[in-house]
Formats: sequence, C-alpha cells, structure tokens
Amino acid sequence: MNDMNRFSGGHPFRKPFERVSPDQRRSIVDEAEAKLPAPAPTGEDRFAPPPDLPPARTEPPAPPSGFGRASPGFGAGAPPASFDGSEPAGSQPSSPPADEQAPPRMEAAPPTPPTPPTPSDPFGGRPTAVPMPPSFGEPEPEPVLRARPIDPPAPPAIEEPAVRKPAAEARRPEMREDPAPQTGSAASDDNGDDGEEQPESHTSTAHRAIGEVLQIAGSSSRALLDPKRLAECAKDTDPSVQLAGLVGSQIKVRVGQIWLLASVRTQTLDRTTGEIVAEIDFLGEGQEEKLTGRIRNFTRGITHYPVPGAEVYAATNADLAQVYASDGRSNIQIGKVFPTKDIRAGLYIDAMLGKHFALLGSTGTGKSTSAALILHRIVEAAPDGHIMMVDPHGEYSAAFRGTGQILDVGNLKVPYWLMNFEEHCEVFITNEGTDRQADMDILSKCLLKARSKNRMAEGMSRLTVDSPIPYLLSDLTGAIQDEMGKLDKATNTAPFLRVKTKIDEIKADPRYQFMFSGMLVADTMTEVIQRLFRLPSNGKPISIIDVSGVPSEITSTVVALLSRMVFDFAIWGRDEKTRPILLVCEEAHRYVPNEKNSDKSSVGRILSRIAKEGRKYGISLGLITQRPSDLAEGVLSQCGTIISMRLNNERDQDFVKAAMPEGARGFLDTIPALRNRECIVCGEGTAIPMRVTFDDLEERKRPASEDPSFSELWNEAGGEEEAVERIVTRWRAQHR
Ligand SMILES: Nc1ncnc2c1ncn2[C@@H]1O[C@H](COP(=O)(O)OP(=O)(O)OP(=O)(O)O)[C@@H](O)[C@H]1O
Ligand SMILES: [Mg+2]
Repeated sequence: MNDMNRFSGGHPFRKPFERVSPDQRRSIVDEAEAKLPAPAPTGEDRFAPPPDLPPARTEPPAPPSGFGRASPGFGAGAPPASFDGSEPAGSQPSSPPADEQAPPRMEAAPPTPPTPPTPSDPFGGRPTAVPMPPSFGEPEPEPVLRARPIDPPAPPAIEEPAVRKPAAEARRPEMREDPAPQTGSAASDDNGDDGEEQPESHTSTAHRAIGEVLQIAGSSSRALLDPKRLAECAKDTDPSVQLAGLVGSQIKVRVGQIWLLASVRTQTLDRTTGEIVAEIDFLGEGQEEKLTGRIRNFTRGITHYPVPGAEVYAATNADLAQVYASDGRSNIQIGKVFPTKDIRAGLYIDAMLGKHFALLGSTGTGKSTSAALILHRIVEAAPDGHIMMVDPHGEYSAAFRGTGQILDVGNLKVPYWLMNFEEHCEVFITNEGTDRQADMDILSKCLLKARSKNRMAEGMSRLTVDSPIPYLLSDLTGAIQDEMGKLDKATNTAPFLRVKTKIDEIKADPRYQFMFSGMLVADTMTEVIQRLFRLPSNGKPISIIDVSGVPSEITSTVVALLSRMVFDFAIWGRDEKTRPILLVCEEAHRYVPNEKNSDKSSVGRILSRIAKEGRKYGISLGLITQRPSDLAEGVLSQCGTIISMRLNNERDQDFVKAAMPEGARGFLDTIPALRNRECIVCGEGTAIPMRVTFDDLEERKRPASEDPSFSELWNEAGGEEEAVERIVTRWRAQHR
C-alpha cells in the first residue's frame, strides 16, 4: 500500500518542483521528521503545517485588483472594505470577538523548523526561501516572506482572526446570500449563519494536500487523490471542501505562488494502490493571497502548467468567493454557486448578450421560470432595455405584467403588408406540388401591382415585392382578377383562383384579424416598431408576444415576420446606431429546427441568420429549448453562453457537450444529475463554468407554468358544469 508520504505536501523540507522518487521521498521525510524536535501529533498531520499562521507584523494590503472595483458585483470576492478605503485588508481587529478567541488548534503550533530561514509555508511544502521564477513572483519582495519564521510567535488571541476571514473581507457586500447589496458591519456578519460563511475557522482540513498531480497532458490531465483525505474533507464544515475531489468539484493545484483551479471530471479507483485517479480540467489561475493563502486575482485560462507531483488541495469557499467574484463589469445575479451557500452567481450582461445565449433543459426542470428570472434581472439592471420575447404558450404575460407590454392576438396588430414576399407565399400559397412556382409567379406580379398603387410608392425607383408599403387586400385580389381576365380561353385559371380564394378566406377568418383586418391598412409601421421593440421603453422594456392564440398554420410565419423585422430594423438602422435589441425565443426547436424536422419555413432561415450575423448589428438572441438536438446545426454553437439545466436525453447531452468549451467538461458530465432549478453556465457570460442553483423567483414574477397538482385538484368538486360552459363559449367565440 502506498503510504501517505506521497501527499506529504505540507512537509517543510519539500521543495515545490523537487523531483524525487517515492522511496527517496520517504527517506527525506523520515530524515526530516527525525530532526524535528516534536513529532506531528498524528500520522495525518504530516500533510501540511498550518496555513493561516498570521505573520506577527501587518503585511501591506494587496494591491487593488479587478475584484477590488467598487461597482456592485457578485460572488463573494468583490471588493474588500479596505479597497473602498475603510480598513486595510491586512489589519487585525485589536480585540477579536469572544467566539474567535479560542485557543489555537494543534496545527496552529507547528514544531519549530530546525533552521529558521526555512520557514513553512501556509499551505505547506513550499520553503519560501526557494527563489521563484520571476513570472511567479509577487510584486512584494521575497524578504517579506523570509522574515516570517523569525518573527516572534503571534499571540493566540490574534491568531484565530487571521484564520477566519479578515474582518474587512467579511464585510464584502456581495458575499451575502441576500441579492440586495449589504452594507452590514463585520459584527453583523458574524451573526447568524456564521458556520456557513466562515467554515475555515473550524478546521484545517482544506490546508493539507488531498493529492498530487499525476499527469499533465493537454486536455486530459490526471491527479492522484488520497481517499483518506477525501473522507476527512467530507466532514469539513465548508461545503466546498466537503465535495473536494469529487466529480464536478473544484480543486486547486500549487505552481509556485500561483494557484491553478481545476474541476474534477472523472474518478477511478487504482486497486493496486487504493488511490483515486481523477481526470481534471484546468479552468484558470490566480495568485496566492499572502495573508490567507487563498486564491486572488483569478483569471480564466492557464499560463503555468504544474509538473507531475504538484500538490492538490481542496478549493475552499473563500477561494471560490474570489474565483466567482465580479470583475466589475455590469452583471446580473441569478443564484448561488454550487455547492456554496452564499456565493452569488453572476452573468456579465454585455458578454452574455453580445454573443447570444441558450437556455436548455428537459421539460419541467425550470427553464421558463429561469428565463423569467434572468429577464427580470436584466430588466431591473436596464430599465430602458429593448427585449422582445416570443411566447408560444402564453406563459410569460403573468410574469411581466408590471414591466412588460403584453401583446397577443387581441392587441398585436401587425399589418399583413409588413410581410415580405416569402412570408406572403407561406400564408397565401397552399400548393406544395410542382406548380407552386406558377402560383408564386402570379402572387409576385400582383403583389407588386397592389403595392405600387400606394401614393408612397410613387416615384420610388426601387419598389419590390418585399418593400413594406401598405396595400389593400382588395387591390391584390383585384390584380389577380385582372390578370386572369387577360388570359386566353385555353389557359388554366386554376392557379389564379387558388391564390385568390385563399386570400379571400383569410380575409374573412376572424382568427386572422390580428393581422389581416381591413383596419390595418393604414401606415402604422413606425408605431408597430416602437411598440414591439419598446422604443421608447416607457417603463416596460420587454414586449411579450403571446402567439398562443395565433392559428397554428401561420404561427411560424408570424414569428418569422417579427424576427425579420428585428433584423431589418437593425440593418437599416446601422448608421443611426440604434439601441441593441434582445430577441428571446421559447421552444426554439420549433422555429429553428434541424434539417430532419424542418418544414423549410422562413423562420428557421431568419433565426439562423440572426444567430450568425445578429451580433454585428446589435441583435442578441436568446434561445430556450428542451430539445437542443433538434435545433438547426450550428445555431447552438453560435451561442456564446450556454445555460444548461438537466437534460435527460443522451443525444441532447452530447449535442450540448459538443457546443460547450472544452474546459467545462467536468461540469458537463453532471448535466444528467442536476436537480430542478440547477444549471451549468459556461461561456462568455461567466468567468469560468459554474454550477448554479437559481434563486427562488417570487410567485408574482413566475410564468404561468405551474405544474398542476393532480392530488389536490382531483379532490375538489363543484362548478364543473359552469366551467365547461364558459370554456365552450370562449372556444366558439375564438376569444379568451
Ligand atoms: N427559480 C424558481 N423559483 C421558483 N419556482 C421555480 C423556479 N424554477 C422552477 N420553478 C418551478 O418549477 C416548475 C417547473 O418550472 P418551468 O415551468 O419553468 O419548467 P420548464 O423547464 O419551463 O418546463 P417545460 O419544458 O414544460 O416548459 C414550476 O412549478 C415552477 O414554478
Ligand atoms: Mg417552459
């Protein structure tokens, strides 16, 4: 059985990059231990000496970083109070709270190293006297570190606060569970859920290595994890440490003074050694906070790879707080980073909307509610935004009564003449056979004639069948009649009659009135655009287009028309620098289907085009679907941010994996195991992939998509006859 020295990360004599065989290592360790005046209390304590020994002097505060911006951010690593000028990060409270005055733990009083200039590092195993390559170096000079061991031992009374969160940091407003920024004092932070917020004070589990890097090989790096250490971590009070090393959890690897953050993708038991071999994906790196050993200034991507043998540690709540802290860009907070109970999960608005986003998940996982939550947060952050949402089930009107303009067949009023020729064909031409082209030619000729009758068209040199010029439906049918009259007797009049009959039918059908009413002939294009795109927003920056009442034969044409209007408006408004518009599409697989499910309708083409080119014109696309594998090819990969809730179907999972960045693989494998209201977010909108538990959305802000309670409703009786009558009346009147 491999002994525990393999992970002797905390040994004071071990250099970080020292290449030693396990046997050599054992002998070094044994030799070193023999020299120590007092043996470590238990075998396990070999791992690392205490991490958070405070230096007796006060180190200067770390320079303000991206995390130190004053703008409201998410995560828990947002600006320490000191960066706002209130208190230096390194300062210690002169008299710590009573509960912090506990005697130092066993580990907090390590044996004095035999030679003073070889101090133990907070996280163990790194003699600070070893010169680091310049790129690893902190701006502060090394002597600061070297001076530590010869400092007089810190009195126990101030030792504990250093292990705990520094007071200034504990005051960070973004660290709180409450999404509303908090400005409470450190004292108030010490109340309540202390156990959750400051777990590090109760245990040192996280500060001893849990394993070491075994192999670095591009996308398939591996680490050896010690099952005993993982079992110890599982008992920790810090929820992040509890999961250390498990699939989907984050671990950190030391490279000099840099911490690398990685996620665990797989675990395999090595039966010969009893150790666990884990495949890991590196996510990013940060510097080591001198005072506490935590990660700070975290950035995505890796510049320093570790060498095999590098120590692996559990990422703590405090580490994740820094990792997920806002870098100051404007963001919205949507929930909590799993497994922490207090770190806010944020999405960067510009990055997320700039490159489209997709919200995926099997039915009932909470997509619609999460979409409503995200939109509510965007609307709160940008009350003068411009969002148009296509709502095929009429769910969202309930959620946006206060902040949205609800448009349904009763008040949508989109004039038919706004359709381009392709959309006209979808509505007016029923023939799918070989003579469809003949019908189209007739419609094209007559439509141009009808449009040209408008005074607006006079003198217009480039009038086309696509020009949004109002015309009368009677002019169109009149033109068809005229053309038919010009025919000689032998010619077939069927195509003319087919088109004319269809137009007359639709004109007379009350279900089509929202679009084909004779009242809609007036030139209302400007008003329609203003109403749809919320220009100006008038306190309602989102328009909900409830297409649930639209006859199913033309729903996709209506969605195509609305989407195309967004696109054309952006194209023609390019010089005007019009405001960007977000177009959100529920049940996106219906409108942008893949080849197999495609009915070749224009909506798929326009949405695919927006996915590919919309970014350049300031259009953002938000696609919501339960069947990502049914989406048109390439559309998902155009989405810079993917928010995936649980996906039960393997094909869907594979599809999403293919569209997600490589580094997120550790997270992706958890997609089938997510709970309702949980998601994996990766891509542009977030610094690194994260698993998020969505906030509970207030009832009045939720879409009307509540799961019916069969057990409750089937125990209710009475009023059925009246209800059925009311339903039949509405059904007949075709009006809700
Ligand atoms: N963040 C949340 N806060 C409160 N309730 C939620 C939240 N997320 C989901 N729910 C609840 O979960 C249930 C299902 O959610 P939702 O209708 O959003 O799922 P869905 O994925 O859109 O389902 P479908 O695919 O059938 O449309 C609802 O009863 C909803 O109220
Ligand atoms: Mg839904």
